[in-house]
Amino acid sequence: MAIFYLGVDLGTSRTSISTSTGKRMTVRTCVGYPKDLISAKRFGNRPYLLGDEALDNRLGLNIIWPLADGVISETSDKALEATGLILKHIIAEAIPDKKPEDSIYAAIGVPANASFKNKNAIINVTKSFIDKILIVSEPFAVGYSIDRFDETLIVDIGAGTTDLCRITGSMPTEEDQLSITKAGNYLDDLLEKNILKIYPKVQLSRRVITNLKEKYGFVGVGEPVQVTLTESGIQKEYDVSQAINDSCTALTDSICAAVQQLVASFDPEFQSKLRSNIVVAGGGSRLRGLDFAIEKSLKPYGGGKVICVHDAEYCGCNGCLKMILEMPESMWERID
Ligand SMILES: Nc1ncnc2c1ncn2[C@@H]1O[C@H](COP(=O)(O)OP(=O)(O)OP(=O)(O)O)[C@@H](O)[C@H]1O
Ligand SMILES: [Mg+2]
Repeated sequence: MAIFYLGVDLGTSRTSISTSTGKRMTVRTCVGYPKDLISAKRFGNRPYLLGDEALDNRLGLNIIWPLADGVISETSDKALEATGLILKHIIAEAIPDKKPEDSIYAAIGVPANASFKNKNAIINVTKSFIDKILIVSEPFAVGYSIDRFDETLIVDIGAGTTDLCRITGSMPTEEDQLSITKAGNYLDDLLEKNILKIYPKVQLSRRVITNLKEKYGFVGVGEPVQVTLTESGIQKEYDVSQAINDSCTALTDSICAAVQQLVASFDPEFQSKLRSNIVVAGGGSRLRGLDFAIEKSLKPYGGGKVICVHDAEYCGCNGCLKMILEMPESMWERID
């Protein structure tokens, strides 16, 4: 009998896994259910499709993003079911050689609010395929992955939520955490609105917007950004510098306000240490100039020092894996 140890980052847009057998993989955190009998037939009567396959076939499916708001809606059976399906799927893909007698011990990192509000629900939907489980707040897992156990502020900028967590040497409490629904998706929405304000007839898809943001996004002073877009099918060059800068600044302002809030409400003796130990993670940490903007916003408080993690994509699930390997059994939620 073997034991497989898993670290899972159950994010609002992506779920990633890292296993004790050295595997890593990612799936989009969504499930698609056929819209009607015709689409059910088209998908070979499969009850649901997962991740990218669901997105590629979205016209025939009702797509559920169970964690889109940073918490699982427990009044929706479908959201709970979808969470279980995604976890079961990624685990089965990551350990295809698991035998029925083998055990799975998993630490699941979830957005900060879900770690308080959905703990039991997640335990319930994973009962049949996880033997021992630890539910952790995602930013805490990020801190754990880089061995930050002294006063550190983690800022995890994902798609649906920006999760902040003060690390103080022990398990964080609810007061140490803050989750705001301003993150990558919010920036996409804003960028689309701001481009359309200047060029109302330009044709934009979500993919074009996200690509623009990821490639050219910046806070502060940047180079002018000229891109090729389409209007009534005709391609033209457009200057989108202002739209990009305004949108990125709006997101950054909200993140800076959240950072200031967690700094200001901390034990005054340790505030200066916290300010000089800020770690930014998640896909949004790749936004150019963000670290400097946070530092600048802390000037009135006495200044700050911000670094970005190297492995933005996997550091959450790596932290979870590390935690499940190191935690004593008493910390785990369920021991069968
Ligand atoms: N270079 C970049 N500049 C700005 N944003 C980026 C960049 N690269 C990725 N992103 C954005 O990061 C977000 C995805 O981040 P991440 O993968 O950490 O999210 P997640 O973990 O699924 O979501 P959450 O943490 O909200 O649960 C997306 O909105 C993506 O567009
Ligand atoms: Mg995340």
